[in-house]
Amino acid sequence: MTDFSAWMISVQQDVEKHLDTILPGREAIPHNLHEAMRYSVLGGGKRVRALLVFAAGELAEAAPPPLLASAVAVELIHAYSLIHDDLPCMDDDALRRGRPSCHVAFDEATALLAGDALQSLAFECLAKPGLFDSSRSARQLQAVRALAHASGSLGMAGGQAVDLAAVGKTLTRPELELMHAMKTGALIRAAIRLGALCGKSLSGEDNLKETGAFNRLDHFANRVGLLFQVVDDILDCTEKSATLGKTAGKDNATAKPTYVSLLGLDEARRYADELRQEARLALTRFDKGGQRLTELTDFICDRRF
Ligand code: IPE
Ligand code: IPE
Ligand code: MG
Ligand code: MG
Ligand code: MG
Repeated sequence: MTDFSAWMISVQQDVEKHLDTILPGREAIPHNLHEAMRYSVLGGGKRVRALLVFAAGELAEAAPPPLLASAVAVELIHAYSLIHDDLPCMDDDALRRGRPSCHVAFDEATALLAGDALQSLAFECLAKPGLFDSSRSARQLQAVRALAHASGSLGMAGGQAVDLAAVGKTLTRPELELMHAMKTGALIRAAIRLGALCGKSLSGEDNLKETGAFNRLDHFANRVGLLFQVVDDILDCTEKSATLGKTAGKDNATAKPTYVSLLGLDEARRYADELRQEARLALTRFDKGGQRLTELTDFICDRRF
């Protein structure tokens, strides 16, 4: 096993354990709602956003407790977005993470509420008193704000609205990029930002340099966020449902504008590789601390599901 695989498994296991702990048990009332929340969050998913939190945390020499809470918060928001994304009023998808989608396993109202409750739980978790050192409480507030912004109408939720309005239309390339940057990129950028906020200064105590370092990291995050969705678009039409754990060929069947529909498969693949190179280049100024983020960039680009 490579050092990267071992690191990945260890972060995934820690995140899984922490998610299990902070999700209310199914014995808590309302049983059905808690069961639906646990069903949708636990035992599935690549945990890429959690891995990005930890990898960015390495750059800033962050301590595990705030990293774990941030990773869990981002994964809870992500799980909520997937539950809602699968609803009949959105993508109407019956398969998620290799199992029936939440609204199929439970019912639509429960799925809607499970998503709502996961979003609240994410913020409860990230706002936990004492999570950051007392001298860094301003950073904790910045983290809460960054996650809220990324989830909202100028981020994920807004991107989902753009996605729904775009069905059956041909978007221009800048329109498609904006849609992807909002619906998927925003949360991935927030994951990276949260990881960095959990740690020490990215470049000594010099404020100007610090801003520069955050901006460089954000440029990386922007490229890798877009890369993630371009690859998702490609996999939708190149892999089978059994590999993906979700319905393959769905974008084409439902007339969603994607990088594949706009550029064709070969050009979409070429663009993914260009984004990978841009992302990797943005990390070169971070020396060794950028190693995990570089490895994750390759993982995101080369994945099969
Ligand atoms: C799927 O995300 C939804 C998109 C934003 C494209 P992931 O591919 O990260 O899904 P899981 O968490 O691994 O199931
Ligand atoms: C989902 O995009 C983005 C979200 C905010 C959940 P997709 O609709 O392409 O995600 P999948 O392919 O269903 O996972
Ligand atoms: Mg969708
Ligand atoms: Mg979908
Ligand atoms: Mg997709």
